[in-house]
Amino acid sequence: MRDVMKETDRDGNQWLTKENVKGIIYDLYAAGYRTTRAAILSMIHILAKRPESQRDLQREVDTVIGSDKEPRLSDRGDCPRTEAFILETLRYISHLPLFVFHAASQSTSIGGYDVEKDTVIVANSWTIHHSEKYWDEPFSFKPERFLDSNGQLFPATHPIRKRLLVFGLGKRSCIGEVFAKSRTFLFLSTLLQNTTIIEPEGKSLIEFDPRTMVPGLVLQPQPFEVRFVVRSKRNS
Ligand code: HEM
Repeated sequence: MRDVMKETDRDGNQWLTKENVKGIIYDLYAAGYRTTRAAILSMIHILAKRPESQRDLQREVDTVIGSDKEPRLSDRGDCPRTEAFILETLRYISHLPLFVFHAASQSTSIGGYDVEKDTVIVANSWTIHHSEKYWDEPFSFKPERFLDSNGQLFPATHPIRKRLLVFGLGKRSCIGEVFAKSRTFLFLSTLLQNTTIIEPEGKSLIEFDPRTMVPGLVLQPQPFEVRFVVRSKRNS
């Protein structure tokens, strides 16, 4: 069997080291798993506290997808409310509050400030997505901010969509963006199609507030309990 850990490049250097493997595992865990986990758990908490929004999304999923077939990526274009709900969750939680740190590979200037080579640059995603200058009531959860007056999702070129930078910008932006958005749609639409999320029995679930998320490179929602009630076929 081929042992890639023993292979070397033309200069005799081992090209896949233990450090590389550790880095890849860490990337998959932090970049792929922790981000998606936080987004999905936040959506579940928010839905449990907003039964009317949840019914509205279920109506969309019932009309567009129905209860018999599994949601597909091709359904996304016909589910603007579900898409807007996902975008608003990502904005609201901004769960990579400082993106990922970068260093300048050469001396440059940004906004009139000189930046020397190797200077570490930290951009503030949290402020970008909670600034009152750019968002109406930034600490209110309003998926409709991404919809036009006909209930259609603004195109990606619309100024409001362009302000949403949760996956970063430029050549070091998130390589998992398309994957994350499409899987989140499939997950959420399947959940809405098959279950109704409600508060735990005999307990009141506190309102979801992104300001109380567990701190870290990737913010995580506080632990919470909900109930999933299985929907019967074709009920609404
Ligand atoms: C809701 C889900 C996700 C969010 C909000 C998110 C957000 C981000 C952000 C903000 C960055 C840094 C961008 C920058 O510094 O400019 C990033 C980088 C990255 N993301 Fe994601 N991400 C998500 C899901 C994923 C998934 C599912 C994967 C892989 C399957 C992934 C893989 C990566 C990798 C490898 C990088 C580093 C890219 C580089 O440095 O060149 N992400 N992500």
